[in-house]
Amino acid sequence: MTRAVDTEEARVLREALARRLADAGHSQEWLATVRTVPRHRFVPVFHQQDHVGQWVTVAAGEDGYLEGVYADRALTTQLTDGAPTSSSSEPDLMLTMLDALDVRVGHRVLEIGTGTGYNAALLSHRLGDANVTTVDVDPELTARAAERLAAAGYQPHVVTGDGAAGVPERGPFDRIIATCGMQSIPPAWIEQAADGALMVVPIGWGLARVTVQDGHAHGRFLPAGAYFMARRAPGAEPKFAELADVEPTSTKTAATEADRLKFPLVLALPGYRSCTWSDESGAVYSVGLWTPDGSTATAHVDGTLRQIGPRHLWDTVEELHQLFDADPVREDFGLTVNRERQWAWWRTEGGPGWDLPEVVFA
Ligand SMILES: C[S@@+](CC[C@H](N)C(=O)[O-])C[C@H]1O[C@@H](n2cnc3c(N)ncnc32)[C@H](O)[C@@H]1O
Repeated sequence: MTRAVDTEEARVLREALARRLADAGHSQEWLATVRTVPRHRFVPVFHQQDHVGQWVTVAAGEDGYLEGVYADRALTTQLTDGAPTSSSSEPDLMLTMLDALDVRVGHRVLEIGTGTGYNAALLSHRLGDANVTTVDVDPELTARAAERLAAAGYQPHVVTGDGAAGVPERGPFDRIIATCGMQSIPPAWIEQAADGALMVVPIGWGLARVTVQDGHAHGRFLPAGAYFMARRAPGAEPKFAELADVEPTSTKTAATEADRLKFPLVLALPGYRSCTWSDESGAVYSVGLWTPDGSTATAHVDGTLRQIGPRHLWDTVEELHQLFDADPVREDFGLTVNRERQWAWWRTEGGPGWDLPEVVFA
């Protein structure tokens, strides 16, 4: 294990980061924690893309390493087959979530997505090791995080497993924070939440903050955007090749609407992914959408539409286009879980809404 000691240079950079986070309006309690917990001990190596998109590794002791670790940016900490599978989130976003979590002395917290262990260290510093449980699906990550946490003086309970199942033997929890992107709130988290518990969960392109009461959960999305690495779960590839044989129809909804409406779109089409095709000048001429059930659609700027699979995805873009003249605002959306269903809604619980899917285990 690479063990980076704390240095004056690291302390100065950490202080500068804390000042930037103070300017962003974060609470004194979490700023004090950022000042104390050395992020570099949890991120001895990170990966960044160069100007041609190649991944370059930056390790402790190398040029730009400490500046990178104490910049307010997300750091990719694990690549699997060339794709990022773990990261340390941007400190501003971490503090937005921690502030929203509203922890108090004595609270028991569950974190889903241990990653580097840095967020678990912040929580342990504030609440004490015994009150913090953190779970990650990746055994290599949990092993490394537990080592780094111990080396930095923290011993929260680190568990390996699919976080969607929670950690029942450590509940009930007063606070639950997920640091991987979810499509809905797993029932296990509600079962393991104490009455009055708060949860902060990245869903789609936002952060839902809900309160649990009598087995129900209810709350709104925060104004801040969040682009989290999705929880690892099975899903289908797009069927673009098969679309070539599909009889085209036409759409009057501009292909660019898929991007403008992406906040409600991911609530209506959980787990959807998209891509664009551009000409040599960079102008987008076609948009592709697909969902984990294999449904796939392409919309061309000339209005040509092709759709295949159990759901006609572009029909949803058209419905949302009718609903949202103005750009959607995150905090106008909310989320409710009751014993029968879980749905995201716009403006009021009884307003336009979209059922969120049941969790499929990894
Ligand atoms: C953004 S990183 C978490 C950052 C972390 N909190 C930190 O402080 O470094 C997201 C993490 O979620 C984990 N993850 C993905 N799917 C998961 C699952 N089904 N259960 C638990 N963790 C999962 C990934 O392995 C990854 O480490």
